[in-house]
Amino acid sequence: MPQANVAHGMALIERAGCGACHVIPGIFWPRGESGPSLAGFAEQGLIAGRLPNRPDVLAAYVRNAPATLPGTTMPAMPLSAQDARDVAAYLYATGKR
Ligand code: HEC
Repeated sequence: MPQANVAHGMALIERAGCGACHVIPGIFWPRGESGPSLAGFAEQGLIAGRLPNRPDVLAAYVRNAPATLPGTTMPAMPLSAQDARDVAAYLYATGKR
C-alpha cells in the first residue's frame, strides 16, 4: 500500500473507537472483545472468514463492512476511502505482539 500512512491509521483507529470491539496491537484502551482480535492481521488468511485478505478489500471492509460482506456483524465506520487505506495499513503493520 504505497500511499497509505500507518501513523495516521493509528490515530483514526483511536478516534473511530475500533478498540471498543477489538483487541488491536498498539491500542491500549479500550480493548473490547465483542469483535475478534486484530492481532497478527497480516498473517490472517481471510477477512471475517470469507473475504480474501488483500489491502483493497480490507480497506473497503473497515469502512463499510455490511456493503462489502452482506450479513457481517461489523458495523460501517465513519472513515473516508483514504482513511480506510491508512487504517488497513496500520492493521498490516502491527505484527503479532
Ligand atoms: C460495534 C463493534 C465494532 C466496532 C466499533 C468495530 N468493529 Fe470490526 N468487527 C466487529 C465484529 C462483530 C466483527 C466480526 C464480523 C464477522 O465475522 O462477520 C468485526 C470484524 C472486523 C474485522 C475482520 C476480523 C477478522 O478476524 O477477519 C476487521 C479487520 C475489523 N473488524 C476492523 C475494524 C476496524 C478497523 C474498526 C474501526 C474503524 C472496527 N473494526 C470497528 C465489531 C466492531
